Amino acid sequence: MTNTSAEAFAPATMANLGVGFDVLGLAFHEPGDVVRAELTDEPGVTIADIEGDGGQLTRDPEKNTAGIAAASTLKRLGVNQGVRLTIRKNLPLASGLGSSSASAVAAAVAVNALFGDTLSMKELLDPSLDGEAAVSGRHADNVAPCLFGGITLVTGVDANEIKMLPIPPSLHLALITPNVAVQTAVARAVLPQSIPLKTMVLQTAYMARLIDAIYRGDLSEMARAMEGDQVIEPARAHLMPLLYEMRQIAKSNGAFGLVISGAGPTLCAICNDEKIAQRVAQAMQAGYDAAGIESATRCTGISTSGAHVLRVN
Ligand code: HSE
Repeated sequence: MTNTSAEAFAPATMANLGVGFDVLGLAFHEPGDVVRAELTDEPGVTIADIEGDGGQLTRDPEKNTAGIAAASTLKRLGVNQGVRLTIRKNLPLASGLGSSSASAVAAAVAVNALFGDTLSMKELLDPSLDGEAAVSGRHADNVAPCLFGGITLVTGVDANEIKMLPIPPSLHLALITPNVAVQTAVARAVLPQSIPLKTMVLQTAYMARLIDAIYRGDLSEMARAMEGDQVIEPARAHLMPLLYEMRQIAKSNGAFGLVISGAGPTLCAICNDEKIAQRVAQAMQAGYDAAGIESATRCTGISTSGAHVLRVN
């Protein structure tokens, strides 16, 4: 069945979870991007409009993450018609919240819904990754949680290599995004290409501790393990304003710990209560205010459903 238009939502995500560089990710309830796909007789993809990006994103469908994901989905569907996309960006760009993944995933889900949901969510991983790859490399630690929701262990880019982890019930997250852009490519360029064996052992141990803590729903241990990252955070810390000060503020206001969200600069504090998360967010923002740095805060939880269709006509 072919429809005339379909709209899909795809949530913000946090890659890495501190110690799990490129292999762990989670989906937030909100915010998220919305993509509307309309059927056209002309084959191929066009971008009618992008709202909320301040004119920063390319409207060229062959370069835009949503445009590429839409074209890849059409190809996989094997249809001759085309689509016109309208993209509503609710996620800040270059902020560590999986903005490019959200647009790619929302486009793939919307295009699939236009053609009667022929492909499964698992089959949409590849087209979504095609979109993501155009801007930040072919890794699925944002795309997988964005598509499937929850906390994901990404052991490869094949859908069968994505493992769903349990969601600790009382997990609440306080996010703060300072008003500085950190391009993923830049944040990846500062990383070491090799690490000492001792560091590898410690990093592996913290990663194992994190998975164990997630399975036991032990938020305190989870945060400790997330903060155990020996490799990525030290290399990127200089890109995140007041990282260590924010960690101290978050903890002294009741958070269990704080890590960089994805490639940053958003920071994510791990809390076990909504009120505590709000207090932590306010305190962190006051810290940035005092330093003359504008910031935006969000308190949210984990999305269990991930990307989904909002409406079909
Ligand atoms: N794992 C990636 C990174 C996420 O930290 O570079 C950002 O795309």
